[in-house]
Amino acid sequence: MTQDELKKAVGWAALEYVQEDTVVGVGTGSTASHFIDALATIKHKIEGAVSSSDASTEKLKSYGIPVYELNAVDEIEVYVDGADEINEHMHMIKGGGAALTREKIIAAVAKKFVCIADGSKKVGILGDFPLPVEVIPMARSYVARELVKLGGDPVWREGVITDNGNVILDVYNLQIMEPTKLEQEINMITGVVTNGLFAHRGADVCLLGTEDGVVTLT
Ligand code: A5P
Repeated sequence: MTQDELKKAVGWAALEYVQEDTVVGVGTGSTASHFIDALATIKHKIEGAVSSSDASTEKLKSYGIPVYELNAVDEIEVYVDGADEINEHMHMIKGGGAALTREKIIAAVAKKFVCIADGSKKVGILGDFPLPVEVIPMARSYVARELVKLGGDPVWREGVITDNGNVILDVYNLQIMEPTKLEQEINMITGVVTNGLFAHRGADVCLLGTEDGVVTLT
């Protein structure tokens, strides 16, 4: 199977976690995009969605799925989203699509985080994938210097502006042995909006697409 077929398989498998008459949290990226295709087939059974990016919002609306502002929603039963890396503790690196801040906010609200990923995303130690950090534009150079002190090699993702109007630094060459600690340390740097480590709030379930089918990790 191709990587995209594996992503599609988990995107559709995630339907099992969607509850009727609820507002569903929807992530961003190519795997989440398959989930939106699947969600559209049961759109009359759900109340609507809360979306983590303008791109996902557009796709949801194109299917006629109502998209709500997070502030207008009391609770989210489940949030379904992809990952760039996930470890055995269900800690993740996310933000390859630059949507990490909205993703992290919806993940914080959701009662359950269902990660959908092709098998290549499962790793022993997080950090081969450069860690995205969303930064207020005027703080970019300062934050980059502070990230070097933490042992990383930050690179400005030039030309990319997030949905929140900020910039992204991708931090290379990190071997992340203590994800929760590093997540907190980076968030303490003044000018950082948030970083793509999802350890403090990791996934509750991971649907992993493999050649042998969809494997459920908890
Ligand atoms: C978006 O900002 C990311 O967090 C995505 O969830 C992540 O990059 C996975 O993307 P794919 O599903 O496209 O691999």
